[in-house]
Amino acid sequence: MRMAMANAEVGDDVLEGDPTVRQLETEVARLLGKDAALYFPSGTMANQTAIWMHAEPGTEVLCDARAHIYDWEGAGASVFRGAQLRTVTPAIGETIRASDVERGLRAPSRYAPRATLLCMENTHNGAGGAVTPLADLQALGDAGRAAGLKVHMDGARLWNAHAATGTPLADFAATADTVMVSFSKGLGAPVGAALVGPAELMADAWEVRKRFGGGMRQAGIIAAGALYGLQQNLNRLHLDHANAATFAALVHGAGGARPVTPDTNIVMIDLRAGQRSSDVVAAAAAGGVALSGWSATRVRAVFHLDVSASDAAEAGRIVAAALAA
Ligand SMILES: Cc1ncc(COP(=O)(O)O)c(C=O)c1O
Repeated sequence: MRMAMANAEVGDDVLEGDPTVRQLETEVARLLGKDAALYFPSGTMANQTAIWMHAEPGTEVLCDARAHIYDWEGAGASVFRGAQLRTVTPAIGETIRASDVERGLRAPSRYAPRATLLCMENTHNGAGGAVTPLADLQALGDAGRAAGLKVHMDGARLWNAHAATGTPLADFAATADTVMVSFSKGLGAPVGAALVGPAELMADAWEVRKRFGGGMRQAGIIAAGALYGLQQNLNRLHLDHANAATFAALVHGAGGARPVTPDTNIVMIDLRAGQRSSDVVAAAAAGGVALSGWSATRVRAVFHLDVSASDAAEAGRIVAAALAA
């Protein structure tokens, strides 16, 4: 990947365009079955650009109660677009379904904000990399559209949903007007994400990206890493999923811990009563394993191309000991 980046052909992507960025955008639009793609410095900026384009100021964006746009994007929808997020907790299971949208919509009233956008997330980070299967995702998007909403998908890890289910990326992407995909997670690139959608909307997205300060000049250097990730690493994501499953089995029950059975590459572990995530994170770090404290009572482990099968097994033993302490 470093060699591909060093050798990348570049131009000025704010002026006449950068050939490597163009190649990446063309490839991503093709894979996702949309007219056009636009390269972004981060998934957060791409999500916020979608929100800017779809949501009207003074209205609401419906999303899952643990959505990345709600938990981890600095209240960007309110700060930048003047739209508020309205979260819905799934009635059943880990991620929102069509019936949850119906529960989340307010009765029309001149006092209440109107919803203009539904954001879906697949796979779902906060739900432990959970996959929303295609039929459920279609029903969810349809429920949003039936209510007159635009539909955006945070597909930072849509690659993993594809690897876990075999569902074509384009079928998943067809359930939403716009989709964000990230290159800097399982694909292993250092920087970047893309937003895909209809050509006219992506022309607007170019302007919004510029407004957010996301116009990048000789960006082919980093786009080459993303292209390499797509070409070399998309087909190995199932290995991360297998490693996550090995790890989850090893930590299951250790010290009363309850890992959520992983669909993909993320393992969320709920701790026994009274145990603190900061203590478990510190004990795992002392053994050489980096976990994140997801909440006071939950830790997260993520499997990626730098973790081999034997690393995953060793990490399972180290974390099991930390949980049992
Ligand atoms: C589901 C999801 N969406 C969006 C993002 C944001 O991506 P970035 O870190 O590139 O801004 C992340 C990052 O972890 C994520 O997990």
